[in-house]
Amino acid sequence: MIQTAPTGVEPTCTQEQAQIVQSAIGEISHIATLPQITMKIIHLVEDPDSTAYDLNNVISNDAALGARILKVVNSTFYGLPGQIGSIDRAIVLLGLNAVKNIAIAVSLAKLFRGGQIAPTFNVSDLWTHSVAVAAGTRLLAKKVGLGMPDEAFLAGLIHDLGIIAEIQARRSKFVEVIEILEADPALLFREAENQVLGACHEQFGAGLCKSWKFPTGLTFVTGFHHRPLDLAPANRGLTCLVHVADVLAAQCEQGYTDTVECLAPASEVLSELNLTQQQLDEVTKQLPEALDEATTLLGS
Ligand SMILES: [Fe+2]
Ligand SMILES: [Fe+2]
Repeated sequence: MIQTAPTGVEPTCTQEQAQIVQSAIGEISHIATLPQITMKIIHLVEDPDSTAYDLNNVISNDAALGARILKVVNSTFYGLPGQIGSIDRAIVLLGLNAVKNIAIAVSLAKLFRGGQIAPTFNVSDLWTHSVAVAAGTRLLAKKVGLGMPDEAFLAGLIHDLGIIAEIQARRSKFVEVIEILEADPALLFREAENQVLGACHEQFGAGLCKSWKFPTGLTFVTGFHHRPLDLAPANRGLTCLVHVADVLAAQCEQGYTDTVECLAPASEVLSELNLTQQQLDEVTKQLPEALDEATTLLGS
């Protein structure tokens, strides 16, 4: 049975899968949380009464976070004229939302620690993959004129976050997933997850995004990046971009790529985005350099 979704939100899983996801997320909510300051920033920006002053106040409580945000703002990613010396100024120039997205992005690296948890799986390779997809989604968003470069970057960065939820909540089962994939290379990653865990990383990722009260657009990305066309047309754009960037990252062999199910982006997804082969080739060429830059900015 398909789970009933609130109005305007796509159903992500069956009732049974929803229970599996909920119980795992419930167990990790106190372990795998983003740093408290990041949660504060998310809630603050979602609050319609909050101001730039409030955001500046929260960020100024964490000097290291403030410094990392300014490093990103002053990078060639933005190409802003002159150096931006304060969070205040960054908010004025880029807006509350952009600074919020940058703050979340620079906080996420911490979640991808854990090292070699199976012979063929190292969490840091998943981080490299995620940063590559983030850089690729950002390049693609620019290419198709979607705007929102920071949201695109963050969407790419979090798309496989469900795997982190699996590792945190069901580590031994996750190792089993990797083992059965090794034994049967024809098996798809999501099939192996469903076999062992009863749900896949799309569902765990969407569950985590909901529990963290991330914007719905990001929940769509985690929940549908392997099947973006299952989303209603109005909700597909960002998830289609992430889907394409996921495939490109695998083509370029950046980080852990066994979750990617196809060797080329589906033509239906490309036409949904009005993306030409030439534009794709251009992004593929730019990707290694964009990944290097993003890795330097976010840390590894
Ligand atoms: Fe995935
Ligand atoms: Fe991925």
